Amino acid sequence: MKVLIFDTAEAAAQRCAAHLLDRVRENPCAVLGLATGGTMLPVYDRVATTYLAERVSFSQVTTFNLDEYVGLASKHVCSYHSYMRVALFDRIDIDLGKTHIPKGDAVDLAAEARAYEQQITASGGIDLQLLGIGQNGHIGFNEPTSSLASRTRVIVLTEETRHANRIYFTKHADTPRRAITMGIGTILAAKACLVLGTGEGKSDAIAAMIEGPLSARCPASALQMHPAVTVIVDRAAAAGLKLGDDYQRVHPNGA
Ligand code: GLP
Repeated sequence: MKVLIFDTAEAAAQRCAAHLLDRVRENPCAVLGLATGGTMLPVYDRVATTYLAERVSFSQVTTFNLDEYVGLASKHVCSYHSYMRVALFDRIDIDLGKTHIPKGDAVDLAAEARAYEQQITASGGIDLQLLGIGQNGHIGFNEPTSSLASRTRVIVLTEETRHANRIYFTKHADTPRRAITMGIGTILAAKACLVLGTGEGKSDAIAAMIEGPLSARCPASALQMHPAVTVIVDRAAAAGLKLGDDYQRVHPNGA
């Protein structure tokens, strides 16, 4: 893994946005895997402002989001469909017909999961998968003990994850209990992965992902098996790394 450590969360998010934008400049038809969560908001903000300033066109880009809550219609204000519209899609020239997010209100969720995998395959596969990380080490919504070979499917969320996402809902009881998510096997099939982790709350998960044993206990540790992973963290999220000084020597100031 290439580990880049930045002094601030803002600098880390900026670097993450620059990485994403560079891939689109290189390949205007890129297939991007996108993530949600609070960590990604400054990234998408930076992407949108750069789009305005430099007209980096997204019109040919295809996207696949990692996940969606089960039971929420696309128009629900707390759905990841709404998140993506507000945070990014409505701010750039992307063709909404080329964006994909699993349908959390599909009548047949197993069929929706199968169709999602087929759509990813038909697109030629994901060129760059953007990833946040949960405090328990989840990527997408692949909670601890998810199979490291899992594909898109419905998963029951842990109470820890429901509590972490509670801030986006009016009350805990409204926080969804299930999600439909790309599997870890789906994520590992991407040609490259870009992980962003910021804040002290992520330091244990980041350390387990990079330096811990390969284990379903920390689903993100599966990324150790992927040949092209870049991890971008701020100092707070890097605090648990035993070899942090080494990473900084190899890539001083994120270079
Ligand atoms: C959420 C999402 C993940 C995200 C993670 C961290 O539940 N399903 O894709 O990476 O948890 O979220 P945040 O950035 O808000 O901490």
